[in-house]
Amino acid sequence: MFDKLNKKRMLTLDRILVAVAGVLFFGTTAAIYFNEASPEWIFYQEKFKEIVAEKFGEDVAATVPEGVQQIWVKEIDVTDRCVTCHQGVSWKNMHNVEHPYKSHPQEILKTHPVSEFGCTTCHGGQGYATSKLAAHGFVQHWEEPLLGRALEEQYLFSDRNVLMELNCNECHRYERETKGMSYINRAKKLVKEKGCRACHKVNGRGNNIAPDLTYEGDKSAESFDYSRIGGFPSAFAWHQRHFKNPKELVEDSIMPAFPMNSKDIQALSMLVMSWKKTDIPVAYLPGVETGDKPTPEELEQERKMLEGPGAIFVEKQCFVCHSISSMDVISPANIGPDLSNAVADVRSRFGRELEEFLLNPTGTMSVVLEKQIILTREEKLQLVEKLKEAYQKYLEQKEKEDKMD
Ligand code: HEC
Ligand code: HEC
Ligand code: HEC
Ligand code: HEC
Ligand code: HEC
Repeated sequence: MFDKLNKKRMLTLDRILVAVAGVLFFGTTAAIYFNEASPEWIFYQEKFKEIVAEKFGEDVAATVPEGVQQIWVKEIDVTDRCVTCHQGVSWKNMHNVEHPYKSHPQEILKTHPVSEFGCTTCHGGQGYATSKLAAHGFVQHWEEPLLGRALEEQYLFSDRNVLMELNCNECHRYERETKGMSYINRAKKLVKEKGCRACHKVNGRGNNIAPDLTYEGDKSAESFDYSRIGGFPSAFAWHQRHFKNPKELVEDSIMPAFPMNSKDIQALSMLVMSWKKTDIPVAYLPGVETGDKPTPEELEQERKMLEGPGAIFVEKQCFVCHSISSMDVISPANIGPDLSNAVADVRSRFGRELEEFLLNPTGTMSVVLEKQIILTREEKLQLVEKLKEAYQKYLEQKEKEDKMD
């Protein structure tokens, strides 16, 4: 009885499934057929032909290629079909028409011919796709989509055609400055000005108090913790929030919240995301060298400081983060406070004597003295003496200044 009922049910279910499958199959076939018969790009190709005919005559229009067009660049593993719709890219006189028919700005393609670079190398998107939505790559992912208007609006950029600098820098990362990359150029300057290397290693240079950032751009979007961020979860959003205030996302972070405007923060977020391990061949990478080397002026200044009264702070690398201005030691980054008056400042800020602070440091200095600058007790006491001397000089200089006023 039970078996029979069950069997009957099964049969009914089967019949329904077959029917559903049949409908689905028919539907899919129809959709594929319909798509093949009139894919989206045909519309754009017909329109392009019309425009060409209007501008240059039927004869020229007859030479416009039809069907799926693609650029294949074996060296960098690119198969881009963007030109299926963007047919005007290589035309010289198609500037005052709309996308996708328009000529490409020519300047950039002189140094990067599309036959050698394709399109996605700079713009992002899915090269192989032939529908607009898929080609412009709108999936919930950062690296995939077109680095174009839609994302620039979403991330509140005030400039256009800048987000793709993220891709430009995969090749141009070792240059200090590259024309046409204003955001990345700015960010590279900031890395120097803010002294990121005081804590981070990038391209083999810097310290290891904090994570090595050389391949920061390879971290997947999923590997960041978004529990304290609302809105669209993306690595870009995470970096922006983190630069604004690291402690907000990573409670015990010692990374300072650098005072920066939102454009600087966008630029730095782009820069760290562009730092990827790349399999682009060396021939495609201009100016390969480690970059960010100290300039001759900086080396000269360091040499001078090594001959002055504050030499020990240079030798022990305190000057990477601190100036001790009363002893003419100037830090390139000034991440920590000027130590000229540390004797008094530590007393008022931490309620402790300097000696006690350096022997049992807290906060940033506990990480610095644990990971980066390893000192014996004697060396610490020696530094305390020097800092007392610096404080003496600081007081003398202050007195002089006060008299002059
Ligand atoms: C099926 C046709 C089609 C394909 C394929 C296509 N596009 Fe487009 N594209 C368009 C149209 C139409 C526009 C006009 C603006 C719009 O409708 O979004 C456009 C606009 C653009 C723009 C300017 C607007 C923006 O968002 O910044 C860029 C850049 C662009 N496409 C790049 C690409 C790249 C790169 C590819 C290949 C990965 C590609 N497109 C493939 C149809 C296409
Ligand atoms: C070397 C990098 C590079 C390559 C390769 C490249 N482009 Fe561009 N593209 C740019 C830059 C840079 C701009 C913006 C130039 C400007 O504003 O002066 C641009 C602009 C555009 C625009 C107009 C965007 C707008 O907002 O008006 C479209 C569309 C476009 N490119 C499509 C393509 C297609 C399709 C290809 C491949 C055939 C391609 N590009 C190859 C760098 C590149
Ligand atoms: C796939 C690697 C690659 C990408 C991506 C790339 N470039 Fe280049 N770029 C090169 C190479 C290679 C050269 C030629 C360098 C040479 O001849 O010394 C070059 C040359 C240049 C030059 C002229 C040489 C100079 O330094 O003055 C500029 C400017 C430039 N690129 C800007 C850009 C911009 C802007 C983008 C993004 C829109 C971009 N590049 C994307 C590889 C790339
Ligand atoms: C005083 C030390 C210090 C300085 C200076 C510093 N950072 Fe950090 N940074 C850290 C520490 C510690 C972390 C790990 C904790 C965290 O995520 O906040 C970190 C994390 C990061 C991360 C996230 C890494 C990841 O994947 O989790 C990025 C990106 C970053 N820093 C970039 C920078 C840049 C760019 C600068 C310069 C503008 C800079 N940092 C300056 C200490 C520092
Ligand atoms: C990687 C950057 C970095 C390096 C290198 C570094 N410091 Fe610091 N230091 C800081 C920061 C940031 C602070 C502020 C910490 C805080 O407010 O919690 C600080 C605080 C201090 C203070 C307390 C100053 C005050 O006025 O409150 C002293 C003293 C000090 N450091 C001494 C040193 C000495 C000595 C060295 C070299 C052996 C050194 N630091 C190397 C980043 C650094």
